[in-house]
Amino acid sequence: MQSNKRPGPTILFIFGGSGDLNYRKLTPALYNLFLDDWMPDRFAIAGIGRSPFSDEAYREHLLEGITQFSRRKGKQNGQWKEFKEHVCYLQMDGDNAASYHLITDLVKEKELQWGVHPNVVFYLAVAPQLVPSIASKLGELKICSDTSSTRIVVEKPFGHDLKSAHELNELLTSMFAEEQIFRIDHYLGKETVQNILALRFANALFEPLWNRNYIDHIQITAAESVGLEGRGGYFEHSGALRDMVQNHILQILCMIAMEAPVSFEANEIRNKKVDVLNAIRRIRNEQVHDFAVRGQYGPGWKKGEQVVGYREEKGVNPQSAIETFAAAKFYIDNWRWQGVPFYVRTGKFLNQKDTHITIQFKPAPHYAFPAESADSWRSNRLTISIQPNMDISVRFQVKRPGQSMNLDPVDMKFGYEESGGEHAPEAYETLLLDVMEGDATLFMRADQVEAAWKVIMPILDTWAIRKPEDFPNYAPDSWGPDDADALLARDGHSWINTVQTKA
Ligand code: BG6
Repeated sequence: MQSNKRPGPTILFIFGGSGDLNYRKLTPALYNLFLDDWMPDRFAIAGIGRSPFSDEAYREHLLEGITQFSRRKGKQNGQWKEFKEHVCYLQMDGDNAASYHLITDLVKEKELQWGVHPNVVFYLAVAPQLVPSIASKLGELKICSDTSSTRIVVEKPFGHDLKSAHELNELLTSMFAEEQIFRIDHYLGKETVQNILALRFANALFEPLWNRNYIDHIQITAAESVGLEGRGGYFEHSGALRDMVQNHILQILCMIAMEAPVSFEANEIRNKKVDVLNAIRRIRNEQVHDFAVRGQYGPGWKKGEQVVGYREEKGVNPQSAIETFAAAKFYIDNWRWQGVPFYVRTGKFLNQKDTHITIQFKPAPHYAFPAESADSWRSNRLTISIQPNMDISVRFQVKRPGQSMNLDPVDMKFGYEESGGEHAPEAYETLLLDVMEGDATLFMRADQVEAAWKVIMPILDTWAIRKPEDFPNYAPDSWGPDDADALLARDGHSWINTVQTKA
């Protein structure tokens, strides 16, 4: 949520500098910020890793990533020569405290060169088990006691459960002030996710209807058409609930359900979100079966190609009980949302990539039209599509042209792309710029992360004890297991799939 100014001089240290996240997301994002004139006048980027690279070979490697994965793809690589001069590589082992002088040396060098003390950002794009060791060693460096200009960015997963997330928070906050810690959830950087706040809090139209009196239920779908993409080893320790629900989906739910903030100050927004998480009714262990559904894909066909089941994927236990699909029903116990179910679902290898939110309104209180005009009558519905479609649509009834009083539902649509959204920055661009500016609004505070773990712990605990008997229970290219349909059908509802206009 950047202001309109560029950040001050900054050095970014990227742990995991030779890894996939940096290759696909971070460097392409930084380069796009550079092309769009958002990078500071004076900046340096140091990739840190164990693999041997000369500066030049490292830059070549990063350019390949940009060409393949940047939203601009190979276009506009003209300024690469200028950009790459800001990039260097530090070969060091994050576990070896003796090598951390390389970091302080570079900071001193830039300080001398630039004549100012720069912002220093440590980005931990590493496997979660390496985070405590690196963070503790960074905490020993004198520059980390500078709470106004040194920051640390921690990628998800933030902990494996409530206990480990709490321990990680304790460790980080023993060495860094909370305002120095940026816990990333990349969904919060997505333009269309941020647009939820604009829709809700910049318009007077929706607020009077945004409550239990008018809303019947809410659905949040984050469906993926891809499978594991080689991440079997990671997924075996995660599963869909941890991977997508604990973070991305609950954050979207918070934005939909939160009270209006008094200001857009980081802590004000985060307070309002924590209130939502704290108000989500705890599912008792014996109720989990009625509130949550898990699934795992078997072998089958995906868009004409034969694919193996989850249990046959590389790095996966052939008897694995890990879920690749999760759905749940939550209630929020406060005045606004009492009795309104929030249904959420996510899964791998589903029929389409589709992330959207459906706000289903209640039926009109009295139906005065002749019975025959009721055939196609539907309640109002607001759909917020996050990706790949980027639009907001409102469904309402109109009279079908002609002599009879027949009604038809129509959609009024705002296409985000038509108003310039196709040039919108990617999530990591927004988030990296925010880090450089020190704006934590779109990042997770310690209590937020723990509150989100508290919501899903009963489900995780129950699933860990009761192994599923029917895995695999959905076919690739489907919409998940039948039980997920039953979860809504019991309440007289059904999942809504949006029609994709973009692949
Ligand atoms: C990541 C998960 O956080 O989000 C992945 O670890 C998932 O498993 C990804 O594929 C989805 O992100 P996006 O931006 O493609 O919706």
